[in-house]
Amino acid sequence: MSDPPKVRLFAGIELPADIRTAIEVATASLRTRIPGFRWVPPENLHLTLVFLGWVEAGDVDPIREGIETAVAPAASFTARLGPAGRFPDRGKARVLWVGFANGVDALAALADRARAAVADRVTDDRPFRPHITVARARQPVRLTSDAFDAVASIDRDVAVEGVTLFRSYLGSPHPRYEAIARLGLQGGSAAG
Ligand code: 2AM
Repeated sequence: MSDPPKVRLFAGIELPADIRTAIEVATASLRTRIPGFRWVPPENLHLTLVFLGWVEAGDVDPIREGIETAVAPAASFTARLGPAGRFPDRGKARVLWVGFANGVDALAALADRARAAVADRVTDDRPFRPHITVARARQPVRLTSDAFDAVASIDRDVAVEGVTLFRSYLGSPHPRYEAIARLGLQGGSAAG
């Protein structure tokens, strides 16, 4: 008998096209200047709230319903893109990201709601640090301040009106993400 099919899932915040374009434009000159980074294509830019990894296909509906119920009472809010960051915090970088100047507490509260709904499935107990990954390196990269300056220049507001459940298809050079459910917050247009 073959194993039941599995799907790779995470829940996060989608970014509108104009913000994804702004991130792409702000980092365009870095793409050629910093060797060793793989730059996230604009269509893949997002903020992860909770990563579920591989789950059985039959579990997708209960996961969606659990997250939907957990996030539905939360109010929509506006977050503001802000400081650049990197992982790890010191030394050479593996990840360059866009952080948030405003809305961090609301994002953390939303992540707590989503994580609580799937707590039995989540093994990652690192504290939530809201970030939009813009580049990843296989071999850690030494970053200069111009990389942070470029990323930090993207000071745009992001309306957070819903949580998206994404399916991830692993692939090369980049994974493909499919929005399989949009779960609305109070007062948001993503509801329904
Ligand atoms: P990252 O941007 O910091 O890499 C899809 O892979 C999303 O889930 C990414 O935003 C990624 O965060 C996040 N994620 C969290 N934990 C992960 C894991 N163990 N493996 C892959 N992605 C993970």
